[in-house]
Amino acid sequence: MLQNRNWIPRVDEKPFSIAYDEHSRLGLSVAKVGRFTEKLFEYNKGDLVGIRGPYGSTFTLPDGVKRILLVGGGYGVAPLATLASQAIVRGITVDFCNGARTKSQLLFMDRLKALDISPHVATDDGSEGRKGFITDVAKELLETNSYDCAYTCGPELMEQKVVDAAAGKGTASQVSIERYMKCGFGICGACCIDDSGKRMCTEGPVVSGEFARTQSEFGRFHRVASGHKVPFNAH
Ligand code: FES
Repeated sequence: MLQNRNWIPRVDEKPFSIAYDEHSRLGLSVAKVGRFTEKLFEYNKGDLVGIRGPYGSTFTLPDGVKRILLVGGGYGVAPLATLASQAIVRGITVDFCNGARTKSQLLFMDRLKALDISPHVATDDGSEGRKGFITDVAKELLETNSYDCAYTCGPELMEQKVVDAAAGKGTASQVSIERYMKCGFGICGACCIDDSGKRMCTEGPVVSGEFARTQSEFGRFHRVASGHKVPFNAH
């Protein structure tokens, strides 16, 4: 899940994952959630923003992979949709789990259908698909099918459940660990995770599920800009 850093002069700079990768063109998906993105939504076609990157690691499709499970929650669906496109081009069977709080927040349903993928859906309020957690759907799929790899991106507690369930079935997994980023290219240490100290802007954000499960902070806490630890809230 490579990330770019976008810069609006005199406003701020923020990281965004790449939602479309068409070789000569990249696409970013932006949700209006704060001062930076509100400003970005005021821009018109042709206005200039600064972009640096891409930085970090990305999801990979090892040779010989035939069937994969993708589990995305909320905005985490964006990079997985790109991965699904790449997998379909290579003839890989894709089972896609798309989770959100409510129907209007489900991302890329049309894009997935255009790829001939029928996503498995769960919403917290039951407005689309199953009412409940997408992790329950993912666990059922892992029980009934054989996958070469599971990929997950979204809320970290969701990711943790997916990599744990995959490990329980002996299935390899890849996970994107999002951390607060400052420099974005490996010199400030803001994005280092315990216990390894690996930098999620450089050696991550995508790491193997096997590695993530060895890190004491995965699924437990993250750090804010000051460096203070903030626990993830359990469901
Ligand atoms: S954000 Fe500075 S080292 Fe990762």
